[in-house]
Amino acid sequence: MCGIIGYIGEIHATDGGVTGEAADDDTPGSVGEIVHRGLKNLEYRGYDSAGVALVGAASGLTVAKRSGEVGALSVPDVPDATLGVGHTRWSTHGPPTDANAHPHTDCVGDVAVVHNGIVENYEALKRELSDHEFTSETDTEVIPHLIEEELTGVDGDGDADLLAAVRRVEDRLEGSYAICAVREGDDRIVVARRGSPLVLGRGEDAAFVASDVTAFLEHTRDVTYLEDGDVAALSPDGVEIFASGEPVERETETVTWEADAAEKGGYEHYMRKEIHEQPESLRQTLAGRLDVDGGDVDLDVSFPPGFLADLEEIRIVACGTSYYAGRYAAQLFEELAGVRATVEIASEYEFGAGRTPDRTLVVAVTQSGETADTLGAVRRANAAGARTFAVTNTLGSTVTREVDGTAFIRAGPEIGVAATKTFASQVATLAMLAVAVGRDRGALAAADARSVLEDLQGLPGAVQQVLDEEKQVREAAREYRDSEAFFFVGRALGVPVALEGALKLKEISYDHAEGFAAGELKHGPLALVTPDTPVLAVLTDGARADETMNNVTEAQTRGAPALGCVSAGEEFGTLDVSFEVPDVGVVEPLVANVYLQLFAYHVANEKGRSIDKPRNLAKSVTVE
Ligand code: AGP
Repeated sequence: MCGIIGYIGEIHATDGGVTGEAADDDTPGSVGEIVHRGLKNLEYRGYDSAGVALVGAASGLTVAKRSGEVGALSVPDVPDATLGVGHTRWSTHGPPTDANAHPHTDCVGDVAVVHNGIVENYEALKRELSDHEFTSETDTEVIPHLIEEELTGVDGDGDADLLAAVRRVEDRLEGSYAICAVREGDDRIVVARRGSPLVLGRGEDAAFVASDVTAFLEHTRDVTYLEDGDVAALSPDGVEIFASGEPVERETETVTWEADAAEKGGYEHYMRKEIHEQPESLRQTLAGRLDVDGGDVDLDVSFPPGFLADLEEIRIVACGTSYYAGRYAAQLFEELAGVRATVEIASEYEFGAGRTPDRTLVVAVTQSGETADTLGAVRRANAAGARTFAVTNTLGSTVTREVDGTAFIRAGPEIGVAATKTFASQVATLAMLAVAVGRDRGALAAADARSVLEDLQGLPGAVQQVLDEEKQVREAAREYRDSEAFFFVGRALGVPVALEGALKLKEISYDHAEGFAAGELKHGPLALVTPDTPVLAVLTDGARADETMNNVTEAQTRGAPALGCVSAGEEFGTLDVSFEVPDVGVVEPLVANVYLQLFAYHVANEKGRSIDKPRNLAKSVTVE
């Protein structure tokens, strides 16, 4: 996801060209050097472009930005700069180009803004700003132009104060954001946060603001986390924080992490950080796309007129975790869109006989967008004349250039090899696609769509409730960590979750784990069941819980311990461990999966495994 760094302090001696290194060991370098180094510290967040804006009394506002790496960004040497902001961009609206990089400025180049998050109503705002000159495809760029309007006013009677202008602008924004704004002739950095984190750093005669402490930890450990709705002004005289227009004090704390740990947000592993990011990443996935009242979605994708109405079959192609997301989605496409849907392991996919290419939609699910097996399947589908579509996390990835349309899951970069938050965002995005197709085909009534959209709307909060129960999962992992093998079972939507749960455990703990359709246990796998093979079951809505529990009982009568993810309010008394899943209907199995992610993580962690980089595995498998 995007990264922000802001710095304000005294003017420091500089040795000329800015290389991101301090002028000498005694001083932290020029403003440009400090901001540039801050961006380097934020590189781990994943990005595809970067930029800075510097302000000096004589030099005014200087902006430099480009696609590509922070190291390739040439930061201008501005000796009189007293403040600066920097940004690393993870593209969500508009490809990674120089023009789409942040900072973005107003028409006259007096105001510069960096932003993390999504402005959901940017298209409507952009229409209101039709007399302004826009130079990018981003949602962010409406912000400096709105500030410009507030500063100059309709008849030049604007309130020329940057802080007041930012406050009024943020009242007009819908969505999530962390904003830093600077202005020529103004010695402040004005910031605002709602939904995306911003943290202040208090240095000696200096102040910092960033998306996370990693950016400035080398300068100060005294930090203040802003809260949603806060607006703050950083000036040479210090920091003022406002909530609803009134000055407030926020607690300052001392960070004890080292930089490496800070990159993981204080978590020991990226995987656990990313499991815990799911409420936020799911909010980003869903932001601006749900029209619950209208019973529809806006995925910003389109199909040829009549294509969906004539659609004969959806065929999903994917690998690994993405394949399991596809299996979840195939059931939703059939249930919600009234169209036949199949899922193929990408490496095995062939278009096959008996199908009508121009009535077949092949959907590639791939978070990296670079998986060779999946790209191969897309190329075979294209060669057969089918329409192809991608669901991916990565703008500019190869798959996006080889399909007819793409929906981005917007989960933010995922560093751990084991897919966690991207699985949840893939299923959520595919669920929205199923609603969109169902509504377009007239197979899904608005009222039924509304029910699904309400479930999706409740997804982030439900996941947070599960994360709050992590202690219970850790205890179960400690109890069963040395088991001989682990079996995961479910029915209906519980099957893909059982398969994914088994994959998660095996790929990071190296233990034998296997997922089954619960009804299949008695057709063979039951022979493997012993008192040393715990069975983990998905017992929620959408997973035919009672029938699944009958199969679990078959295993229990052979001595196997049983752990169940159970819908809130339901009870299966013979379970050894019961994890409660909040009531979110069709996505309850997806929420149950978070318990299985945590279980896998803690079993592996108990064993001291290399969780973020498991042996033999790669994050993106670009070979067939
Ligand atoms: C899952 O934890 C693994 N990282 C792996 O199975 C992965 O899902 C698979 O390689 C597909 O990757 P993709 O989504 O980038 O195509």
